[in-house]
Amino acid sequence: MKERIRQLVEAYGPSGHEAQIRALIEEQVAPHADKVRTDAMGNLIALKRGSGDGKPVMIAAHMDEIGLVVTYIDEKGFLRFSPTGGVSPVTLVGSRVRFANGTTGVIGWEKWFRPEGNTSRPELSELYIDVGATGRDDTPVGVGDAAGFVRPFEDLGQRLIAKSMDNRISCAVAIQALSEMGETPNDLYFCFTAQEEVGTRGAITASYGIEPALGLAVDVTLVGDTPKARPMAVSLGEGPAIKIMDSGMLAHPGVVRWMIEAAESLEIRYQREVLQGGSTDARSIQLSRAGVPAGCLSIPCRYVHTPSEMVDYGDVQNAVKLLVTLLTGEINL
Ligand code: CO
Ligand code: ZN
Repeated sequence: MKERIRQLVEAYGPSGHEAQIRALIEEQVAPHADKVRTDAMGNLIALKRGSGDGKPVMIAAHMDEIGLVVTYIDEKGFLRFSPTGGVSPVTLVGSRVRFANGTTGVIGWEKWFRPEGNTSRPELSELYIDVGATGRDDTPVGVGDAAGFVRPFEDLGQRLIAKSMDNRISCAVAIQALSEMGETPNDLYFCFTAQEEVGTRGAITASYGIEPALGLAVDVTLVGDTPKARPMAVSLGEGPAIKIMDSGMLAHPGVVRWMIEAAESLEIRYQREVLQGGSTDARSIQLSRAGVPAGCLSIPCRYVHTPSEMVDYGDVQNAVKLLVTLLTGEINL
């Protein structure tokens, strides 16, 4: 599974520019699905048909990642940019980025090595991308092109680091579960959603089209286990988290119960998650049409929205087990 994770986390795919990551995921899910399609928003939807009269279930793992879009190119060829998704300037100085066409650049800061640069925090407006151009006419990218971050996948054994664990680790969990599961009574719609990082937009149209009886997002969540972190009862390595609430959603109590019972029947460790800030595709599913019972299976993750996000491999493996059990059983909320 680690090789699958490496491929997914290293792929390019900022919000709205998901073609490359979508092609990679399509290749991996096609052998295990009855039907695969892409909708107008760019969501990839793989259907595994149920063998009985089970429920239509939507599983949503967003495949987009935070990124930067070029807004202006100056006469020397330096690129100014606007973020797509929650990008903090603190994480950017010296970072490397890559565009869809393979162009690579480094992020510079106007104040680097100036006295105020030693004490102040960078503003996005003070940062630029240097693609090594000798002038405006020499830049191999243009206004509107999007860049994603570049970092290699690091396997530390138990812990894994990558630039886009949010949310490729959940894509890996969903694909792995799909590939491992046998028959299921339920019609399973595995949605690899687009544009989550700019406001869970892909999941809105996907859930409207699918009309699921139940929606389950798979996404990362924050942890409280690092030095002086905001207190939070989720840690790396203590098991996948079952979302009770975040700032955009109160999970359906029946869905929470269904998830807890499955984890307890498997005798795996799990954590109850209350996330103060942030939300997931589950919010969009829950609010679609006349409302859908929804919840979220979360992978605890350190340093979310930095170029080095860390997860625990045991949590990842248990998330796969839990997802297989959830989706292959009869569902009565
Ligand atoms: Co995110
Ligand atoms: Zn996410």
